Amino acid sequence: MKVLVTGAFGQIGSELLPALRDLHGRDNVLATGRRLRAGAANDGPVAKLDVTLGEQLEATVTRQGTDVIYHLAAVLSATAEQDPERAWRVNMEGLRNVLEVSRRRNVSQVFWPSSIAVFGPSSPRDDVPQETVMRPTTIYGVSKVAGELLADYYAGRFSLDVRGVRYPGIISSGAPPGGGTTDYAVEIFHAALRSGQYTAFVREDCVLPMMYMPDCINAALTLMAADRARLCYQTGYNVSAMSFALGELAAEISKHIPAFHCAYQPDERQAIADSWPQSLNDSAARADWDWQPHYDLQAMTADMLSTLAARLKEGDA
Ligand SMILES: NC(=O)c1ccc[n+]([C@@H]2O[C@H](COP(=O)([O-])OP(=O)(O)OC[C@H]3O[C@@H](n4cnc5c(N)ncnc54)[C@H](O)[C@@H]3O)[C@@H](O)[C@H]2O)c1
Repeated sequence: MKVLVTGAFGQIGSELLPALRDLHGRDNVLATGRRLRAGAANDGPVAKLDVTLGEQLEATVTRQGTDVIYHLAAVLSATAEQDPERAWRVNMEGLRNVLEVSRRRNVSQVFWPSSIAVFGPSSPRDDVPQETVMRPTTIYGVSKVAGELLADYYAGRFSLDVRGVRYPGIISSGAPPGGGTTDYAVEIFHAALRSGQYTAFVREDCVLPMMYMPDCINAALTLMAADRARLCYQTGYNVSAMSFALGELAAEISKHIPAFHCAYQPDERQAIADSWPQSLNDSAARADWDWQPHYDLQAMTADMLSTLAARLKEGDA
């Protein structure tokens, strides 16, 4: 099976890539990005691919004989607000190109992640149901709602097997996060280990849903392996793992690093965080494809600190 990954050198792609190469064989997984990351070529096949260029995408898919695409290339929430035009082009044109080339070239499956950013101030804040009001106030959220609708259209109209989840903030110790509103939940670990102090860009009582990277990868692989007949939805499955206030995360880190100090200086990203839900109801994902997270706040914090400390020691983070 030939697998193509777009946006492969970002936060999620750089950890999904080795998992896919373990599963399908190193040479069967083509890692692509708008810019190539130094050293990535040693890990398996790589190619330059800008997803806004439909012809380039089609040529790459034809050359590889792609069976499955993991489409991760995107502009994330905070960066998107700085350049909404670019965010729309990358997020919407990129997705449309992937769906259209998949239809034309008989790609059998597509994974495309949506986000909790599909929800907005008029959505419920807690235990948000799978189906509810979705009127986001960020361009990122607008592109994710429109993307879910477009992907569902391709699934219904052309029987394209496109699947996806609404990821919460993803926490990981590998490639740094790419300009999202939940980046603070990663930055805090780097700061705690490097200097013992962190100044956060959201409030101490800011609560958002989060997920540790092993659960994030597991969600993608489990959903893609699920029996299609069991799925009530194509894209946009709510998936939930943990929700915490930033102050709770800081307190958890302090259990491991007692001298750690966190200060709070909210900036414009606080308003984005305030428009998002605090927790999600993921019963549809649990029922349809047996989704189950393994990391809570305590387990994630302990693992993050030890993994990241080892990486920092090796000069790898
Ligand atoms: N990380 C999170 O917390 C999170 C949460 C919810 C949803 N998601 C979604 O998961 C997917 C992957 O996110 P991520 O965290 O790995 O993002 P990231 O920003 O770390 O990586 C995205 C990659 O896409 C690349 N890219 C940008 N424009 C491109 C283009 N025109 N052509 C090709 N590549 C391009 C970037 O260079 C980057 O390497 C995205 O769809 C994102 O919306 C992420």
